[in-house]
Amino acid sequence: MPDIHICEVGPRDGLQNARHLMATDAKKAWVTALAAAGLREIEVGSFVPPKLIPAMADTGDIVRHARSIAGLKVVALAPNLKGFERALEAGAHKVTFPVSASRLHSESNVRMTPDAMVDEVRRCAAHPHPGVEIEGAVSTAFGCTLQGAVPEEEVVRIAARLAEFCDCVALADTVGYANPAQVKRLFRKVRQAVGDKLEAAHLHNTRGLGLANALAAYEEGVRHFDSSMGGLGGCPFAPGASGNVITEDLVFMFEAMGLDTGVDLEKLFRARELLVRALPQEPIYGHTPLAGLPKGFAAHA
Ligand code: COA
Ligand code: ZN
Repeated sequence: MPDIHICEVGPRDGLQNARHLMATDAKKAWVTALAAAGLREIEVGSFVPPKLIPAMADTGDIVRHARSIAGLKVVALAPNLKGFERALEAGAHKVTFPVSASRLHSESNVRMTPDAMVDEVRRCAAHPHPGVEIEGAVSTAFGCTLQGAVPEEEVVRIAARLAEFCDCVALADTVGYANPAQVKRLFRKVRQAVGDKLEAAHLHNTRGLGLANALAAYEEGVRHFDSSMGGLGGCPFAPGASGNVITEDLVFMFEAMGLDTGVDLEKLFRARELLVRALPQEPIYGHTPLAGLPKGFAAHA
């Protein structure tokens, strides 16, 4: 088992907000290359109405392809029971549900209040789903571009409700408002409420604090991180949202600290080449791939 578990969310969080569509075959090749680099968990898409997010229209096809990759945990996002049923039918191993702690973002994103969305996830959890993991992701946990501040008690309350029937709970900084002190405080509070069900930190790099926040979460005991290759990403229903913490830099940080991520950086850079070729007009971020690895660098992996 690696020390750090990274879920690559580029094919979902990244492509849902990209200016251009990635062709289905290019998506499949990219997912294959990401897995070949050692990423054991990939969020490959979302089961939302294709009219709403055309980039996610081929998610069923991508899930079926990803399922053929040995050892890969295939994750998909769903916003409701219909999406959950589509995810089960395609064969996702894990389904993540976005539950905003901000009422305004929740209504903009899923057209439900936060509590109605919790009830929707409960309905899904009650639906037979043998062997499939359910994650409740508390979005806008650190603030919201529509509502502004999001009370920490509200984040704890939503997380605790989700923990009643989800296998794991994540905290998401959907719009990149979080700072390291806040990350430590909120992860500690939510862990006190839900214990080990609190798993992943889903961080965005909108104000340049993605890595700082990831390190703060690590110091608070978090070992599961979502990140996106090239720093793609953002929620189309949260004004001003932009890319996730960059996978290449996150892997470099942890490996340089002597922690095993299971990811091979050279192979990760090759997967990045596929991304750059498939979306030539998209800005692709990342310091480590541009600067190169330090001379004599020995990755843990
Ligand atoms: N997949 C495909 N189609 C779906 C669907 C799903 N998960 N959920 C609903 N639909 C279809 C319905 O069948 C209906 O189709 P019809 O018009 O042909 O009858 C139509 O979409 C509207 O359904 P409704 O239940 O009224 O949904 P809505 O319009 O209230 O939208 C959500 C609610 C949750 C489906 C939508 O807001 C959503 O998908 N949000 C997620 C957005 C997102 O991906 N955000 C970024 C990730 S966090
Ligand atoms: Zn996100």
